Amino acid sequence: MASSHLCLLLPLLLCSILLLIHPVSCANENDNLLQGINAYRVNLNLTALKKNDNAECLAGELADQFKDQPCTNTTGSNTVPGTEPQFSDFPNLLTKCHLNASVTRDGFIMPACVPNLDPSLVLSNYTESQYSESLNDTKYTGAGIGSKNNWIVVILTTDTSTGNFAPSSSNAASLVSRIGFIYHLMFLLMGYVFLL
Ligand SMILES: *[C@@H]1O[C@H](CO)[C@@H](O)[C@H](O)[C@H]1NC(C)=O
Ligand SMILES: *[C@@H]1O[C@H](CO)[C@@H](O)[C@H](O)[C@H]1NC(C)=O
Ligand SMILES: *[C@@H]1O[C@H](CO)[C@@H](O)[C@H](O)[C@H]1NC(C)=O
Ligand SMILES: *[C@@H]1O[C@H](CO)[C@@H](O)[C@H](O)[C@H]1NC(C)=O
Ligand SMILES: *[C@@H]1O[C@H](CO)[C@@H](O)[C@H](O)[C@H]1NC(C)=O
Repeated sequence: MASSHLCLLLPLLLCSILLLIHPVSCANENDNLLQGINAYRVNLNLTALKKNDNAECLAGELADQFKDQPCTNTTGSNTVPGTEPQFSDFPNLLTKCHLNASVTRDGFIMPACVPNLDPSLVLSNYTESQYSESLNDTKYTGAGIGSKNNWIVVILTTDTSTGNFAPSSSNAASLVSRIGFIYHLMFLLMGYVFLL
C-alpha cells in the first residue's frame, strides 16, 4: 500500500526538485554576465547596473522567441543595427511581464547568440561589439538578462518613467494569483501527506 503512494509522490518530488534547480542554473549564467558587464562599467568609472526584475522577465521571454534560430554571422551582436527582427507578439510579451510600452520606450534590447553560451565569448560579445557603446552610456542604470539555448538577451533600463520598466497596475492581480497557486500546491502536498 505504502509503495503505491510513493509512486504518486515521486513524480511530484522530482518536479519540485527540478523547479528548485532549474531557475538557479539559468540565473547563474545571467548573473555572471551582469557581473562581467558591471566590472566593465566600473573600469569606465560608471555606476554598476542594478538588476531589474521586469526587464529580466522580458529578456527571458525574448530569449524564448529567439531560441530556435541558429547562430550566424548576422544574428545577435553581429546584427547590423536596425535589422533586428521585430516580434509581432511583442505587446503580449510586455503584458506577460506586467509592462506597457510607455515604461519600456527608452530601454535598450541587446540579443546575442553564442554556442553553449560560453561565458567569456558572451561577455566579449557585449563589451567588444557595437553594444559596448550602450554599456558605456550613463543614462542606463539597470539591466535584466534572460537566456535560452544559445541565446542571451540583455535589456538596459533607465531610471526615468519612460525606461524604468515599472510594473503596470495589473501587477497586483498577478500577485494574488501567485499566492493562490502556492495555496493550491500546499493543499496538494498536505493531501499527499494525509494519504500516507
Ligand atoms: C576613473 O577615475 C579615476 C580616478 O578619478 C581616474 O584616475 C581614471 O583615469 C578614470 N578612468 C576613466 C576610464 O575615466
Ligand atoms: C556571413 O557569412 C557568409 C558566408 O560565410 C558571407 O557570405 C557573408 O558575407 C557574411 N556576412 C557578414 C555580414 O559578415
Ligand atoms: C560573439 O560570439 C560569436 C559566437 O556566436 C563569436 O564567434 C564571436 O567571436 C563573438 N564576438 C565577440 C566580439 O566576442
Ligand atoms: C565611453 O564613453 C566615453 C565618453 O563618451 C568615451 O570617452 C570612451 O572612449 C568610451 N569608452 C568605450 C570603451 O567605449
Ligand atoms: C503604463 O503603466 C504606467 C505605470 O503603471 C502608467 O502610468 C501608464 O499610464 C500606462 N500606460 C498605458 C498606455 O497603459
